[in-house]
Amino acid sequence: MLLCRCRGHLWPTMELWPKGYDWNKWFEELDNNFAARPDDLYIASFPKSGHHWSFEFINMIYNGNADSVNKSKLENFFEMHEIREIEEMPSPRILMTHLPYDTMPQDVINKKCKIICIMRNPKDVCASHFNHVRGIAEYKYDGDWNHFFELFLKGEVENGPWLSHVKDWWTHCKDNPNVLFLKYEDMKHDLFANIKRVGEFLGKTYDDDLYRKMAENSNFDVMKKNAKAKELPGIFKTTDGTFFRKGKIGDWKNYFTVAQNERFDAVIEKELKDTGLKFQYE
Ligand code: A3P
Repeated sequence: MLLCRCRGHLWPTMELWPKGYDWNKWFEELDNNFAARPDDLYIASFPKSGHHWSFEFINMIYNGNADSVNKSKLENFFEMHEIREIEEMPSPRILMTHLPYDTMPQDVINKKCKIICIMRNPKDVCASHFNHVRGIAEYKYDGDWNHFFELFLKGEVENGPWLSHVKDWWTHCKDNPNVLFLKYEDMKHDLFANIKRVGEFLGKTYDDDLYRKMAENSNFDVMKKNAKAKELPGIFKTTDGTFFRKGKIGDWKNYFTVAQNERFDAVIEKELKDTGLKFQYE
């Protein structure tokens, strides 16, 4: 897999990222030239946790209608832009990010910007991530599931490790009123209620009918049908793409062996037990 280490984490180095990608330079520019704006909204997640999905309904909430935003979330992807491009974006900016908390500019916290953190159970993240890196030609990854499983557990995947990513965001922000945590599984169980929570967090006072329409129009089947507008042309090996693959809770069961599941459970249990963070796996 094409990854490099910078500031204690792993980052993609494919050409579809700006400059090819020189992460040291990008972070240097971030440190020196980036200014958060109080009306920025950041949507933070570990990869494969429902970032595209949340981009869709959060745009609906911003636009005050239930129409698909009809563009790729990658256009608003923080790390995929040079800092001067981010500076040129008009306010209010919606910035999608996979940055681990310790690499996030403190200015965002100091200026009290709103942040929505999306989390998903790590077994489905792992299975989804496996399909993602296998599906995008530029990763040049053809390892099998057993190989990827070990990489994921060691944290040797993009933006890894998953554990420190979620733990850090959670411990630093769980009591911050400007940060809202959403879980993929809760959204699957009741999308309407979760979209409404986001609307209220963003200070909107829409009626339930509009929230219900937003939920209908951002469900998996509708988004998959409309996927073309949201995928980058040519990055996937198959025409199916991987941003809208299965959209289910529990697909991990098609990948994990019993022994892998037991090992995974032991690690997650030990690492999350004092955090109050819990995930649903089916
Ligand atoms: P699967 O690979 O398990 O299907 P991200 O956008 O963060 O890359 O996450 C991608 C995952 O979210 C994929 O999971 C994708 O299918 C799923 N997803 C995308 N849109 C969704 C939706 N509207 N509802 C539920 N899951 C969705």
